[in-house]
Amino acid sequence: MLQSVLALCWLSAIFCTSIGALITEVIQPIRASGDEVAYILVPGAFLKGEQYRKTAQAIQEASQLRVWAVLTGGYDSDLVNPSQLPEAIEGAIKALQQAGMKSKNYIGVGHSLGGVFLGPYAENSELKAIVVMGSYVASELRDYPLPVLTLAAELDGQMRITRVLRDFEQLLHDVTQSKNATFRTPVINIKGTNHMQFASGPKPPRVQQMDLEADVTELEAHRIIGKYINSFTTATFSTSIVDIVDAKTQLEDIFRESLDLFQPLLGMKSLQEKNNTCPWARIAQEYFAGEFADIIEVNSMVLDLPSFITSQPSISRDMHRTVVNTSASIAFEDHYETRPSVKQSPKEIYLKLKSRAAVNAVFGSSDQEKPPSCKFLNELALETALNASTDNARDRYYLRGRPIIFEEDIVAASDKEWVSTPLKTWEDKEGFHVQAVALITPITSDNEGGVHHCRLMAPFRALEWIIIDSLREI
Ligand SMILES: *[C@@H]1O[C@H](CO)[C@@H](O)[C@H](O)[C@H]1NC(C)=O
Ligand SMILES: *[C@@H]1O[C@H](CO)[C@@H](O)[C@H](O)[C@H]1NC(C)=O
Ligand SMILES: *[C@@H]1O[C@H](CO)[C@@H](O)[C@H](O)[C@H]1NC(C)=O
Ligand SMILES: *[C@@H]1O[C@H](CO)[C@@H](O)[C@H](O)[C@H]1NC(C)=O
Repeated sequence: MLQSVLALCWLSAIFCTSIGALITEVIQPIRASGDEVAYILVPGAFLKGEQYRKTAQAIQEASQLRVWAVLTGGYDSDLVNPSQLPEAIEGAIKALQQAGMKSKNYIGVGHSLGGVFLGPYAENSELKAIVVMGSYVASELRDYPLPVLTLAAELDGQMRITRVLRDFEQLLHDVTQSKNATFRTPVINIKGTNHMQFASGPKPPRVQQMDLEADVTELEAHRIIGKYINSFTTATFSTSIVDIVDAKTQLEDIFRESLDLFQPLLGMKSLQEKNNTCPWARIAQEYFAGEFADIIEVNSMVLDLPSFITSQPSISRDMHRTVVNTSASIAFEDHYETRPSVKQSPKEIYLKLKSRAAVNAVFGSSDQEKPPSCKFLNELALETALNASTDNARDRYYLRGRPIIFEEDIVAASDKEWVSTPLKTWEDKEGFHVQAVALITPITSDNEGGVHHCRLMAPFRALEWIIIDSLREI
């Protein structure tokens, strides 16, 4: 994101070096008394300050505090940027003081790109807390010096909820260390809302192109956003013990609701890798073992690609048990870690498994039943993801999602060909086409033959398709 902004500045050097006319609009409190706080709103790319008026008013209405707000805008080309942000925030604080605000409880609220720049700026500023909406702080939440609320929209087509999952996972870990994390660095998944609903008014072209259709109205979205922001702020800044206790209870409830929404993603992610093993490889191998699924023991190891390429699946049987060793490797999309609009689930999973024939041979079985294909495993991934989905997500997918279309396996002729032929996927109006790549070798007297390798779609990718990409009109 930062790079594209710099590129844009470079292309339009005039805008980025000129001193723009920043706009600062103070919104007066609607309550005459109460603990004072002020929200300073920082817009997303190509959005105007006034497009956050309704959001600010919703926070005021949700709160018992004496809430001020400042809309900042007028950034060069309406593109918020790190060089004008300090002036905008400092100008907002000055305007609040002139307007009569007494306390110093300033809270920065950044949407989208505004949140990306707000995070690093706020660390050394007069801001006492921040809220990032459809955005994220780049540092670890526990290391961030200020209280920070991460508000994510379930149907955000730009800041993928699968990206926010990473922050939520940190929070899950932090909560085991201290319950305070629930109040100091909450990460909230707001059901049924989208990226644009943190603001209002005309959508910039990229939002138009990327964002998903929301389940709730803008009014309802603002009401929920106002309520959540107020709970965070009240827990942090109120002087009323009763209100703090109440706000903390609300944050605990919201945490549980977010956990319910994140749970399917956590589940699918843990199928691809858990403690260096790949549970999906075990499940796949059990299908390939057919009638012997219940009596084999499957080991799986997740390896980096070079080690994976030289690994070899094996099967061994003694008097007590039959052990199948499998291996897996996971490939991600380029730049997925730094670009929140890039798919966060694996691009593909490589599995090296023993074939049905190899398992049968070990047990002396002459079963001739046709073994499952790699395609079957991809269909299973979709079914697993659908079973794990929330009811709402599943309904949305059936109602208006583009389906996943499973093509017949590409069958490689050699190990070398298999390694150099990626899982084939493409998207069109029909849906998401997925074509697995298989390698099947005949059994040999040593352990070398009898493999059934697959390059597969991860269950997490199926779920990411269900909850995000399937819903986008193309
Ligand atoms: C939790 O927060 C409270 C109040 O902010 C503080 O007194 C307490 O020390 C914190 N506990 C931990 C474990 O950080
Ligand atoms: C992870 O694997 C190691 C070695 O295989 C094992 O000792 C450990 O208990 C496992 N940890 C969890 C959390 O499963
Ligand atoms: C399977 O893996 C286990 C544990 O990594 C190892 O001890 C065993 O020798 C392997 N078996 C075969 C047949 O390679
Ligand atoms: C999905 O759920 C259905 C209904 O509960 C069940 O029959 C099926 O086995 C499940 N499939 C998978 C792959 O978990």
